[in-house]
Order: sequence, then structure tokens, then C-alpha cells
Amino acid sequence: MVQYHRLIKKGEKLRVAVQQGSSGNATGGGGYLKSAKQRILSIIFLSFLCCCYFFSFSSFSLIDAFSKEVEGLVPYEQFIAPLCSGLSYGTICCDRTGFRSDICIMKGDIRTHSTSSSLFLFTSSQNKSKTPEKIKPYTRKWETSVMKTVQELNLVYRDQHHNNICDVKYHNIPAVFFSTGGYTGNVYHEFNEGIIPLFITSHHFNKKVVFIIVEYRNWWVSKYRDILSELSDYPLVDFNSENRTFCFKEAIVGLKIHNELSVDPSLTLGNKTILDFRNVLDRAYWPRIRGLIQEPGLSKPKLVIISRNGSRKVLNENLLVDLAEEIGFFVEVLRPDKTTELAKIYRSLNSSDVMIGVHGAAMTHFLFLKPRTVFIQIIPLGTEWAAETYYGEPAKKMRLNYIGYKIKPEESSLYDEYGEDDPIIRDPRSFTRKGWDYTKKIYLERQNVTLDLKRFSKPLSRAYKFSKQVVNSH
Ligand SMILES: *[C@@H]1O[C@H](CO)[C@@H](O)[C@H](O)[C@H]1NC(C)=O
Ligand SMILES: *[C@@H]1O[C@H](CO)[C@@H](O)[C@H](O)[C@H]1NC(C)=O
Ligand SMILES: *[C@@H]1O[C@H](CO)[C@@H](O)[C@H](O)[C@H]1NC(C)=O
Ligand SMILES: *[C@@H]1O[C@H](CO)[C@@H](O)[C@H](O)[C@H]1NC(C)=O
Ligand SMILES: *[C@@H]1O[C@H](CO)[C@@H](O)[C@H](O)[C@H]1NC(C)=O
Ligand SMILES: *[C@@H]1O[C@H](CO)[C@@H](O)[C@H](O)[C@H]1NC(C)=O
Repeated sequence: MVQYHRLIKKGEKLRVAVQQGSSGNATGGGGYLKSAKQRILSIIFLSFLCCCYFFSFSSFSLIDAFSKEVEGLVPYEQFIAPLCSGLSYGTICCDRTGFRSDICIMKGDIRTHSTSSSLFLFTSSQNKSKTPEKIKPYTRKWETSVMKTVQELNLVYRDQHHNNICDVKYHNIPAVFFSTGGYTGNVYHEFNEGIIPLFITSHHFNKKVVFIIVEYRNWWVSKYRDILSELSDYPLVDFNSENRTFCFKEAIVGLKIHNELSVDPSLTLGNKTILDFRNVLDRAYWPRIRGLIQEPGLSKPKLVIISRNGSRKVLNENLLVDLAEEIGFFVEVLRPDKTTELAKIYRSLNSSDVMIGVHGAAMTHFLFLKPRTVFIQIIPLGTEWAAETYYGEPAKKMRLNYIGYKIKPEESSLYDEYGEDDPIIRDPRSFTRKGWDYTKKIYLERQNVTLDLKRFSKPLSRAYKFSKQVVNSH
């Protein structure tokens, strides 16, 4: 929807046209008008020119009209950047109190300048205390190694008289700037650091917001397009490759994040929860899913196994499928990879009663499950903390019936490799304590699982009984 763009360039063209028109009139006119009819026509023509002139001027004087705040914006600052509440027009404010992210808010005559990675704020006052700010718009502030890779933006005060023409002007629509760099490329990080914080930061604008993406990636935009269009009505902007100047009256730089894959209602306008986020997903995928072949309604509860094939693979997955079918489930095995369309995964999980998977990024898809369904996370040795923190706790907040299935040493491939007396088996904590690298290199990258099906049948039967009740109650 481009009708909100106001192109100053158009104004320029108009003025050129007017000048040509006037000169044309000058050569032809001045006492040479012959009839009343011509006179009337010329009056009409002149009025038309005046209108053009007026219109072209009013286009230019938009800069004055621009020196007013965005009207009708909800008071969102206290939720996004509390330190910047009540920020006055013509200022930049950064709230750096958050552990996970910094957020800056700018109000005034804001203009992008991508070649210098800058956002300019034009002001007339010679206020010397107006110091520039720098910010990396990514939500892992505490993790210096990844933050080093994220592009920094300069937020700079500029003298109003600098000539920096607006190519695209948004009058009443704020902008949100964020990076799709960092760990983007892993579905957990994409939701945790990108999509959910984007919801938290922008939901209160009711889609009347422009997203400006720093370190824009085409595949990311295609993958998340459905969701993005539920959060913003406006075209996305690829900050780094745009050479046009975008102008706004209000901008938020950086995203607000609450916790792992979570939305904290007490920190949002209107007490939004992760279920409100899930409703966004449902609306986002509905048009696409409606167009897919509908799955037949099932009389049996449906169980989806999220299958991995590199490390942390369930080596006896076929037997697990047999067992689940024996118990009474309809079973579907999903192998999501980077190219799997999210709408298809959503369709599958939105119609399932139980999801099972081994701890890992693909567990992020629990967000696609309906509340009151069952999520069984298989937890390999040495991954308890990560499994509970990143997926177990957030799943409970989404009102899923979460079951963490901690494997016994005998179910781990590390057991065969090292034997029961090795500290890797006996005392995983002595390694995981030493840092994430140990967890990663030993327990995440080098471990497979062979489920003890007798043991696993207990949570599976529980999940079945529960699902059966839910299915029957419908
Ligand atoms: C200058 O800016 C600071 C904040 O940036 C503000 O507190 C102060 O009132 C301003 N002074 C003038 C004269 O505008
Ligand atoms: C913007 O950049 C493109 C390619 O980099 C170039 O073709 C175009 O002329 C530029 N436009 C302006 C207004 O500088
Ligand atoms: C949000 O929650 C607070 C505290 O629980 C309550 O006072 C307020 O009325 C709620 N607001 C809405 C819009 O539900
Ligand atoms: C998800 O499931 C619910 C309840 O079965 C249904 O109403 C909704 O339309 C589904 N969403 C999509 C996108 O298919
Ligand atoms: C895992 O699956 C992907 C695609 O589904 C495939 O390209 C890859 O080769 C598989 N890896 C292994 C170890 O089987
Ligand atoms: C885990 O299983 C897969 C598939 O059989 C295999 O390719 C991989 O090497 C195994 N990894 C370990 C650490 O045993």
C-alpha cells in the first residue's frame, strides 16, 4: 500500500511542469488574447496553474507540516523503553537498562542515511548537549561474540539546514528498525530474537508501522512473510541496499524482548500473552492453509514426531511410531528443514494433539501447537538446563501439557561409547558447568538416543488418555 508514501520528488516534477507552463504562456500571451472565450479559457488555465503551484508548494511545505508529532499513537514507550516515556519532539533517547537489548526512540524530523548506517534527526536548536547515540538492533546484548557481528546504527542530530531530501515520507506511521543478522538461520533464534520481539515491540500499532530491516536477508523475508504481513501493512524496507531517504516522525530502533520464546503480559500494552502471538500465527497461516488440500478429520488423536537426522536422532524411531500406533494414535513424522514452508508445519501441528521431539531448535515449533495439547520433549544427557529453559518453561506458559522425558544413561549413544563409569555419563554437570561449548561439542553434537520403549510408553499412554478426553469433549 503505497498511498501513504508522499514523494517530494513528485512535488519537484510538478514545479518543473508549472515553470514550463508559465514560460509557454509568456511566449504565447500578454495582450494577444483574442476572444472572451479564450479569456475564460485562459483564466481557467491560470487558476489551474495556481492550483498546481499551490499544490507543489504545499508539497514542499510538508517539511513544516512535518514538525508535529505523530498523532494518535498509543503510549507504548513505557512498555518498550520506560526511560524514554514522555520523550519530547526533536530528541533521541536510548534506554539501555535492559539485560537483553537496548532500545532507542527518536521523535522529530527523522531521515535515513544508509550509506553511513545512520538515522538523522534534524533539529533547529543548537543544543550542544544533543549527543549522538549508537545501537546494535539485536536482542542478545549480553553475548558479545554475536553482537560483534551485528551492524551498528548511528543516531545523529543534524542541523535542519542540511540538504537531505525525503524520497519516501511516512507522516503518521512510525518505523521499527531491527537486524536480521546475528544467529538468524536457526529457527529458535529467528523466533526468539526476531519474530516474538517484533510482535512485542509493534503489536500496539495495529499494523500501522513500517519495518526497516538492517542486514536484510531475502530468504528470511520469504520464510516469515505471512507473519510479517500480520504485523505491518507496509512494504518492508531493506535498509542497507536502499539509497532512497525514508522520513518518519517517530522511530524505534531495536526490539524489546521479555524472556525465552515468551510474551510477558505485565510488560505489554493490553496484557498480551504468547497466545496473542499465536493468534497472529493463526491469522497469518490461515489464507495459505485454506488453499492446501484439507486433511480429513480424525477420530484418533494425532501425534506428530519432529524428526532429526544429524545428531540427537532417535535411532529406533520406527519402533516408536509402531508403539504410538499401537497405543491408538494417528502418527505423522515431520522432518522440518530450512526450506520447509512454515504454513505446512503449522497446519500439521495446529491439528495435532501431541508433539514429540528431541531437544533442539526444532522444538520451537511447539508455538504452533494448540493450547491444552501435549508436548513431550526428549531430553538427552547434559541438556536438561537448556531443554527446560528454552522450551519446557515457555511451553508451560503457552498452557501446553509439557512432559520433559529425561533419558537414562542407557538410552544415550554416549553410554555405548564411554561406558557407565565415565564422568561424561555419570556427571554431565561437571562438563556443562564449564560452558556452552562443552554442552555443544559433547552432548548436543555427539549424542543419539535409543528410546527404552517400555519406559517411554508411560508418558505416551498418559498423553493418549489426555488427548482422548480432549477429542471426546469436542
Ligand atoms: C537540550 O537537550 C536536553 C536533552 O537532550 C534537554 O534536557 C535540554 O532542555 C535542551 N536544552 C535546550 C535549550 O533545548
Ligand atoms: C540507487 O542505486 C541503484 C543501484 O545501486 C541505482 O541504479 C540508482 O540510480 C540509485 N538511485 C539513486 C536515487 O541514487
Ligand atoms: C492488565 O492487567 C492489569 C493488572 O493485572 C489490570 O489492572 C488491567 O486492567 C489489565 N488490562 C487489560 C486491558 O486487560
Ligand atoms: C487451527 O485450528 C483451529 C481449531 O481447530 C482452527 O479453528 C483454525 O482455523 C486452525 N488454523 C489454521 C490456520 O488452519
Ligand atoms: C538430513 O536431511 C536432509 C534433508 O532432509 C538431508 O539433506 C541430509 O543429507 C540428511 N542428513 C543425514 C545425516 O541423513
Ligand atoms: C547419530 O545417528 C546418525 C544416523 O544414524 C549418524 O549419522 C550419526 O553419526 C550418529 N551420531 C553419533 C554421535 O553417534
